[in-house]
Amino acid sequence: MAVHTIFKEANFKAAATYSGDQGEQYATLKLEGILEAPQNLCVVCDTRTERGHKLGRHTMPESAAYSTVCAVQNLWLAARAEGVGVGWVSILDPVQLRTVLRIPEHVLPVAYLCLGYVDKFASEPELERFGWEKRMPLETAVCYDHYTEDTAS
Ligand SMILES: Cc1cc2nc3c(=O)[nH]c(=O)nc-3n(C[C@H](O)[C@H](O)[C@H](O)COP(=O)(O)O)c2cc1C
Repeated sequence: MAVHTIFKEANFKAAATYSGDQGEQYATLKLEGILEAPQNLCVVCDTRTERGHKLGRHTMPESAAYSTVCAVQNLWLAARAEGVGVGWVSILDPVQLRTVLRIPEHVLPVAYLCLGYVDKFASEPELERFGWEKRMPLETAVCYDHYTEDTAS
């Protein structure tokens, strides 16, 4: 499948950016399910859409893409509630993806998803289990700053 070829090329380039133990570990990671997944879905965002009569997008046109990401998250939660696994594959060259899927210039490829029933859901994220990265503690993920009523008004 053409998208799998795009992944392999992008993944080869990404792998080359790691060295030593990290490089070896990267090579063992399962980073896509393009061929195994019964369903591949490319979620896109039409940046010129008139939906909502552009409310909120005069000032922040990028909010169209943010809304699309929220839709992906909702799809992910709904799928998970139905026992369907979802994997987001971002190791893809967007220009090549556009060509293969014939995505027009004004339409943004946001998420390439692999969906399907899985044998089991792991109790912790795979990348954490394999020691690639630890989950960020809430204290460091959230930035607390002095915020007063004066600042708010
Ligand atoms: C924006 C985004 C891009 C991602 N890209 C990849 C990717 O290219 N390859 C990969 O293996 N996981 C990627 N992930 C992570 C996985 O899709 C996801 O965390 C994993 O499938 C575990 O899903 P679960 O939390 O439902 O178990 C990405 C996640 C996000 C949010």
